[in-house]
Amino acid sequence: MKVLIVSSEIVPYAKTGGLADVTGTLPKVLKGVGVEADCIMPKYSLIDDGKFGIKPAGVKVKVPLGHREEEGEIYETEGEWGGKVYFVKNDRYYDREYLYATKDGDYVDNAERFIFFARAVLEFLLKTESKYDIIHCNDWQTGLIPVYIKTLYSGHPLFSETATVFTVHNLGYQGLFWSHDMPLTGLGWEMFTPKALEFYGKINFLKGGLVFSDVITTVSEKYAQEIQTEEFGFGLEGVLFERREDLYGILNGVDYEVWNPEIDPHLVKNYSLSDLEGKKECKKDLLSRYDLPQDEDTPVIGVVSRLVAQKGFDLLHEIGEKLAALDVRFVVLGTGERKYEEFFLEMERKYPEKFRARITYDEVLAHKIEGGADMFLMPSRYEPCGLNQIYSLRYGTIPIVRNTGGLADTVVDVDSDRDRGTGFTFDRYDPGELFDAIVRAISWYHKKDEWEKIVKRAMSQDFSWDRSARKYREVYEKALSKKRWS
Ligand code: ADP
Ligand code: GLC
Repeated sequence: MKVLIVSSEIVPYAKTGGLADVTGTLPKVLKGVGVEADCIMPKYSLIDDGKFGIKPAGVKVKVPLGHREEEGEIYETEGEWGGKVYFVKNDRYYDREYLYATKDGDYVDNAERFIFFARAVLEFLLKTESKYDIIHCNDWQTGLIPVYIKTLYSGHPLFSETATVFTVHNLGYQGLFWSHDMPLTGLGWEMFTPKALEFYGKINFLKGGLVFSDVITTVSEKYAQEIQTEEFGFGLEGVLFERREDLYGILNGVDYEVWNPEIDPHLVKNYSLSDLEGKKECKKDLLSRYDLPQDEDTPVIGVVSRLVAQKGFDLLHEIGEKLAALDVRFVVLGTGERKYEEFFLEMERKYPEKFRARITYDEVLAHKIEGGADMFLMPSRYEPCGLNQIYSLRYGTIPIVRNTGGLADTVVDVDSDRDRGTGFTFDRYDPGELFDAIVRAISWYHKKDEWEKIVKRAMSQDFSWDRSARKYREVYEKALSKKRWS
C-alpha cells in the first residue's frame, strides 16, 4: 500500500506544534507495518535546504487560482525511512517569516496560500502520474484535497482508486474564510452550502475535509467522542456526529529515539528507570539555566507550550498569587498570544524566585525541561492528544493535567488509583480544581519513597507508535474498501 502524507508542517523541516512531530514520525512507523509513505508540504523559505539535502525535482506545476495561474516548483529530498519528501515552492506564498501568522494575526492571504497548496499537490501527482492508494490529509490546511478528489478531479483515472483519509489534530483551527474567496477555489457556488463548505456564512476548509474524506481520524479516542458534543465541537459536532461511523480515534505515539532520557543528547546526564541519579543533575542544570537557586527539595513544575487559549493558562492567571505562596517553582518555555506571554513575564517580575519564563521557541531547552523538572503542567481547556505529557511520563516528570482528550487517555490520577497512578488530573475547567491538583502533587512529592514509585511507574509507560501504526493501516484499508464500493 502506498500513502502520501500531506501536511503544512513536518519534523524536521518546519514545526510549530505536535502536528509536525506526528507527520514526521508517521512515515517511519508505517514502514514497520508494511505501508510505504511519501510526504509533501509547502517549501517555506525558513527551511534549511542545505541541511536536509533538498533539491529541485525538475517538475513545475501550473495551479489555477480563480482567473489566474500560479506556478509551483517541486523540490524533494529523501526521508530517513527511505521514502520521498516533496516540497511545493512558491515564494509569493511561502517566503515569509512564519508559517501561518505573525504576532499581529494570521496572514491575510491564508486561504489563497492553502488553496494553492492543495491544488498544487494534485497537479503534481497528475503531472508525474504518481499513483497513491491513500492521500492522508492533516488539519484545515489540507482540507480541500478530499473535496477536489470528489469534485474537480474526480474524472481523472489516476485518482479513480485513490481514497482520502483526513486527520483532525485540532478542531479549534478550521481555516475559516470569507465567501469572496470561493472563486479562488475553482469550485462552483453549489459547494457553498451547509452540506458542503459553508459554515455560518464563511468557507470552512476543515469542514471540507470532514465531509468529503472517505475516513476521518483524530488523535485520541476520547477526543473522537468529545468532538461530537457541543462543548468540544466548535460548531462542527453535527457534521462529526453524522460521520461517526467513519470516525476513528488513534492515539499519537512518541518517537522514543528522540524523547528518551537514556539517550537524549540534550541532557547533562542521561538516566533510566534503573538509575535515576542523572535526573538530579538535570534538575541542577535546569535551575541554573533559569537562574534559580539550587534547591533540590523544592519541586519544579515545567511548562513547554504554545501560549494560546486552548492550553488553559487562563486558569493560572486566576490563582497566580496563591501559587506564588507555595513552595514550588515554575519554569516556562513558550510563545504565542501576547496576553499569555505578558502574564508569565509579569509573574517573573513579581516573583522571580518562583516563576521564570523564556518566551521563545527552543528545542534544546524543551528537552532540558522534560529532563530537569519534577512535574509538567498542561491544564488544557481541550487537548486532542498532547505530546508533552507523554514525553513527561518517559522522563519521570509527573504530569499535572486536565482530564480531557488525549490527556485523559494517557495520564491516570494517583489519588484515584494508587496502583496505576502516573500523574495528577482535574476534571472541571476551574482554577480551584487546578490549584488542588498542584497542591496534591506537591504533597506527594515530599513523600520521597512514594514519589519515586510514581516516577518509575510513569517511566515504564509505553506509548510507542507500534499499536497506532497498525491502527492507521487498518483505517487505510477501510478507506480503500469504502472507495471501491462507493
Ligand atoms: P500542540 O501541537 O497543540 O502545540 P502538542 O503537545 O501535541 O501540542 O505538541 C507540542 C510540541 O511542540 C511538542 O513537541 C513541544 O515540545 C513543542 N513545543 C511547543 N512549544 C515549544 C517551544 N516554545 N519550544 C520548543 N518546543 C516547543
Ligand atoms: C494538535 C493538538 C495536540 C496534538 C497535536 C498532534 O496541535 O493540539 O493535542 O497532540 O496536534 O496531533
